[in-house]
This record gives sequence, structure tokens and C-alpha cells, in this order.
Amino acid sequence: MSWRATVLTLFPGMFPGPLGTSLAGRGMERGLWSLEARDIRAVATDRHRTVDDTPFGGGAGMVLRPDVVDAAVAAAMPEGDARPLVFLTPRGAPLRQELVRELSAGPGVVALCGRYEGVDQRVVEARGMIEVSIGDYVLSGGELAAMVLLDACVRLIPGVMGAAESAEEESFSAGLLEYPHYTRPAEWRGRRVPEVLLSGHHAEVARWRREQSEAVTRERRPDLLSEQRRAAPLHPAASPA
Ligand code: ADE
Repeated sequence: MSWRATVLTLFPGMFPGPLGTSLAGRGMERGLWSLEARDIRAVATDRHRTVDDTPFGGGAGMVLRPDVVDAAVAAAMPEGDARPLVFLTPRGAPLRQELVRELSAGPGVVALCGRYEGVDQRVVEARGMIEVSIGDYVLSGGELAAMVLLDACVRLIPGVMGAAESAEEESFSAGLLEYPHYTRPAEWRGRRVPEVLLSGHHAEVARWRREQSEAVTRERRPDLLSEQRRAAPLHPAASPA
């Protein structure tokens, strides 16, 4: 069984979008993974196909109803579907490569895209959703965030990356930012490639790259160097009613 992604969205027309091109698209064509975008509105039962309502307590915007979201999840996941359910929301825990690796190694993922002001929290809890944010900014919906998550997972599926591309020695596999890259010409507009890279000394190249990685990480992302952040919990358990 290949890796299976299901996206629950009010805008199924946004998919596959960029995921149908490039590395991910080629992998899909080759049957290494599949993507199904399901319209949340399809499970709405009333005459107007209502999916949302005004927030209790007042305030702006609309909230997706728990019964509608639950029906959409039920329709997408038959009994025994072991895929984790991820809710893309700016309230979520920051997406990190650790979760990407874990999801990619499993049977696939079901991604719920929020729109409007949010999703009724009861269905998020009842279904044990993993709430994930792709960064500290607010998108107009979870769709682009779901694409980011899926792209990151799909490229780790065995066979998706060609031999030319390597997932091994890259940013975050060592918990550090990547060292800088250079190619020909060796001199361009008066700028020379660092001499060590032309030296042919593999051990020295490896040491230089490691130093560069550590320096840029210290400078830009000191938070990556602290041990604490690695212990953050990933999975909430589904809570009984
Ligand atoms: N939906 C809106 N903004 C988002 C974000 N930053 N991450 C995940 N989902 C979102």
C-alpha cells in the first residue's frame, strides 16, 4: 500500500495544485503516493449546505460546526483507517522535521484545513487531532499549510527523490541549518569559492561544512541548539466525550 493523503477542505479545487508538479507530482504519477481532496460541504445535510455558524461568546467570523467536521472525517476515514488526523491551524504546535519524518514513515495522513475563524474545538479533541502550524503568520486557510506539510512528507517517501537529490545530509537532519553551497565557475564577479572546497581534502571539507552549519545556526536559529525543544509532545490522544 502506498502512502495516502486525504485533505478535508472547503476548496478542493486548490488540490493537487503545486503537489501535482515537480518531485511530488512525479511520485504521484509513479504511484508512490496518492492524494484525495474531499469537499467538507459534501457532508452538510441542510438545504443550504451550511458548514459554519457564529461563535458562542460573540466576536467576528464564523466557526466550522463540529457535527459537519465529524461527518467529513467519518466519511474520509473508514473503520480501521490508522492514519493520523492533522488539523492545520495557526494555533497548532510548530511543524518540525521530526513530525514530518514520523508522518512520512506511516500509512499517510488526513489533513483538515480550517477556514473562517476556526473549527469547533470539541471535534478537534474528540477526534484526537494533531494541531499543527507551519509558522507564526496567519494564512487565509489551512490549504497552503496542508500543501507544505504534504510536500515535506512526500519527498521522504522512498523512491520519490532521485539518486541526485539526497534527503540525508540536509537542513534539520542533524538539527542544524545547512552549510552554503557553491558550483562553477570557481570565480564569479570577483567572488571566489572558499578554497577548502577546491582542495579535494574530504575530511577538511566535512569539517568546514560542519563549522559553517554551526555558525549559521548560532547566528540565525539559536533556538535549534537548545536541547529542550526536542522533547515537545507530538500526539494528543482522542478524548472521550
Ligand atoms: N491556517 C492559517 N494559518 C496557518 C498557519 N500558519 N499554519 C497552519 N494552518 C494555518
